[in-house]
Amino acid sequence: MTQKTILRALAGERLPVPPIWMMRQAGRYLPEYRATRAQAGDFLSLCYTPELAAEVTLQPIRRYGFDAAILFADILLIPQALGADVWFVTGEGPRLSTITDAAGVTALRPADQVHEKLAPVYETLRILSRELPRETTLIGFAGAPSTVATYMVAGRGTPDQGPAHAMKTADRVAFSALIDRITDATIEYLSAQIEAGAEVVKLFDSWAGSLKGQDFDDFALAPAKRIIAALKTRHPHIPVIAFPREAGPRYAGFAKATGADCVALDQSVAADWAAAHVQTDGCVQGNLNPALLVESGPRLVDETRRIARAFAGGPHIFNLGHGITPDADPDNVSRMIEALRG
Ligand code: CP3
Repeated sequence: MTQKTILRALAGERLPVPPIWMMRQAGRYLPEYRATRAQAGDFLSLCYTPELAAEVTLQPIRRYGFDAAILFADILLIPQALGADVWFVTGEGPRLSTITDAAGVTALRPADQVHEKLAPVYETLRILSRELPRETTLIGFAGAPSTVATYMVAGRGTPDQGPAHAMKTADRVAFSALIDRITDATIEYLSAQIEAGAEVVKLFDSWAGSLKGQDFDDFALAPAKRIIAALKTRHPHIPVIAFPREAGPRYAGFAKATGADCVALDQSVAADWAAAHVQTDGCVQGNLNPALLVESGPRLVDETRRIARAFAGGPHIFNLGHGITPDADPDNVSRMIEALRG
């Protein structure tokens, strides 16, 4: 059997047509997702009901034939497994009980006790391993520690991640201890995902761009490096994609510094710059602006082809720079795929 295209790209192969998948490909822009989400009742129930989580993971594969399926879950399941209260307010986003000091960190559950709460996620992966088409790669994921910490400290999403930065300034030791606890739990979580059938894992560091200088080294690079090293020891053949979103110039060297097999690029990075400074170290993923899937115009096709051309000299997985938004037109996704493959 020829190897799956995503795995070939991750191994460093340049393919004539880049494989494609989309961040948030299972989501509210799809009517079939909204129907299953209504059946589940609320978002977290959808994440914790393996048959329904597998169903929404499969929906974009059936509709579009993407080269990869990403597990349907959320980065905030780890805080919950560590003992935080987590809930979602419709139309607003996540809410969590907060951690503000060393005592809060100490009270978290140990890393090897996260599996009980997360068992349904592993079951979703087992279902997907059986049901996905043979050519489709199954991607597992977790939030990177610093991004997960921003939600655990603030208790919600924030425009500037202010509360986490404030804790880091007030008590760097306690903040580092929080990062370490999330790092340990993430290693156990991603290992279990691989054992349940994930063929690739991705680390989402959505707020990496708010870390500067030494903070970027300590809280974006170092935890990613520790997670990837532990995974490579346990599962040497499983590729890792890292997404240090809005890292800007720090994208250069990120793969080498962390051991990631692929770096995912947000849309603020110029593709030509990334081809010269990031793709030289291995596979890159990205970086179409998700806003182009909302407007219906020629720019979508032009930009899709421009990005494919910019990265044509090396290994590339076509993707968006961030998740597709609920107001995107499902037909635009077909247009993007046609522009790439056709
Ligand atoms: O990409 C995929 O299709 C896989 C599933 C996935 C979801 N969230 C489903 C989801 C993945 C990989 C995530 C990651 C995630 N979750 C991140 C990192 C990536 C990023 O987007 O920056 C973050 C920061 C979260 C936390 C989170 N989850 C927020 C802030 C929100 C609310 C904002 C929103 O878009 O509504 C969520 C909810 C969420 N996670 C939805 C989905 C499909 C929408 C919830 C719904 O159906 O009501």
